[in-house]
Order: sequence, then structure tokens, then C-alpha cells
Amino acid sequence: MKKIRKAIIPAAGLGTRVLPASKAIPKEMLNIVDKPAIQYIVEEAFNSGIEEILIITNRGKGAIEDHFDHAFELESKLEGNPDKADLLDSVKACANLGNIYFLRQKETGGLGHAVLCAKAFVGDEPFAVLYGDDVIISDNPVTKQLIDAYEKYGKGTVGVKEVDTESIKKYCSLAVEHLEGNCYSCNDMIEKPKEEEIMSHYSILGRVVMPPEIFEILENTPKGAGNELQLTDAMRTLAKTKGVIAVDYDGTRYDMGNKLGILQANIEVGLKHPELSEQLKDYIKELSKNL
Ligand code: UTP
Repeated sequence: MKKIRKAIIPAAGLGTRVLPASKAIPKEMLNIVDKPAIQYIVEEAFNSGIEEILIITNRGKGAIEDHFDHAFELESKLEGNPDKADLLDSVKACANLGNIYFLRQKETGGLGHAVLCAKAFVGDEPFAVLYGDDVIISDNPVTKQLIDAYEKYGKGTVGVKEVDTESIKKYCSLAVEHLEGNCYSCNDMIEKPKEEEIMSHYSILGRVVMPPEIFEILENTPKGAGNELQLTDAMRTLAKTKGVIAVDYDGTRYDMGNKLGILQANIEVGLKHPELSEQLKDYIKELSKNL
């Protein structure tokens, strides 16, 4: 079996749910405490053994490319100040995380369309997709958890969590059967189900590992919900023909495409941040007295 070396991060969506914050800044660049969301995702990929990442962008997302490049003026200013050595290291590290490539999705055709743009980059290898607005904090990187399951079962693998009925109608619903531990076999799924179409409360949240056959399936998949090419529709075909594995992963997922998700991420990650946790705890305790 070919090793999983490549990952795609689709980050070309319009981010309408977090306007006006995402008007001039890509939503993937909105911060969690002291790093933009997409940096957490890139670090997760490299910490999972991924060697090459393709970030799908579009017009107006140049800040993402700048973030993973050197900032010479800033670096030379920091270099002159020994008190700022840690900051210098953190700034330089962004440019040295690993091999990152960029490709523009020239129309906002949906997540499936964004993934299809990566066909030539991926070639004939299995690969990971990390959704650009889903940050997942975990001890064992979630992409690694999915890669392990892919290697064990030899099937496309999707990261899932149980969500409530209102959320599942906005995401997707999977038909699952328990296999072992946190792994399920899945042979059907539906994007944005109506209440009567819900097959389980397991939904794909943020990460998948796919075989290269998914590209041919995507090419033959008609536009779906929102008149966009839906990755879920292609994965449904894969689930129905070959089956996929659903992994109820260990990790906390924050939806950075949604205002509440951004606030939750900042509070929870802040509470664990070595520099801020004590101060933030005291602040929240004080604040909560008046809530
Ligand atoms: P979303 O549907 O959450 O992104 O797609 P969106 O379109 O930005 O959201 P709203 O509804 O307008 O707020 C999930 C991921 O897929 C990417 C997004 O950037 C996000 O990371 N995506 C979506 C693309 O790369 N291209 C697309 O055409 C659509």
C-alpha cells in the first residue's frame, strides 16, 4: 500500500458566515490566541507524517501565502533585539514548517471542486484532506489517527463525531455499523439531510483520507446541495461501492467558519496557553459572577 504523504487544505471558501471579519482577511487567517487557524491545521498535517501540503486558495487569500513565507524586514528587526529571540523563532518557524504549495480555485465551486483542483498534485496516491476552517486540538493528531485506520483497513477513511439534529442538517449524516473501538464501517451518507433522511447522528467533521479513485468519482458526480460539487456526494459513491471507514476521533474540533466556534476556540485554547491560562481563568471567574 502506498504511504500517505500528501495533504490538501481547501481554503478557498467565501466565509460568508463570519462576515465582515472575513471581508479582507481569509477566515482561515482568523486567530486562535496567537496563531491563525490555518497554522494549527498545517502543523497537524506535518505532525501526522505528511510531507507535502497543497493549500487551495482563491483571490484575496494572499495573506495565507505571506504567513508561510519569510518576513525579512520583521525578522531583521527582531534579530537586533535579544529580548525578542522567542518571537523571532516563532516568526521564522512559520516559513520552515515544511513543503507547502498553493493553487487557486478560480471559481467557488464547492469543497468537491476544490479537491478536484488538486488532482495533478496528488497523482496516483492516497491523500488526506484537512478542511481549512476546522481546527482540531488533540494529543495524537487526528490526521494521523485517520492515516492509521486507512493503513489498517485499506479503505477511504472519514473523521466523524456525533452532533445534534440541528447541526446534522447543516453537515452530513452517515449510515454506520460498529467495527471495533472507535471505528465504524459506513456504506452510505447524505449531505445536508432533511430530518427524515438522517441515518445516524455521526457527521464528517474536518478530516478525511481518500484513495486516488475519488478524483474519477468527483469528475462524474453532478452538482449537489447549494448547486456546488459536494465532496460528500463523491464519498457517498465510494461508501456504496467500496465502503469507507468512519473514525470517531479523539480531539476537540472548533468550527472557525462560525462566530461561536471562533469564540470557543479562543477561550479553550487560551485556558491551556502557558502564558495566559492563569490570567484568563481569573478573568472568566470574575466575569461569570455577573452572568
Ligand atoms: P464551507 O462551506 O464551510 O466554506 O467549506 P465557505 O463556503 O467558506 O462557508 P460559508 O458558508 O460561506 O461561511 C468548508 C471548507 O472548504 C473550503 C472552505 O474554505 C472551507 O475551508 N472551500 C469551500 C473551498 O476551498 N472551495 C469552495 O468552493 C468551497
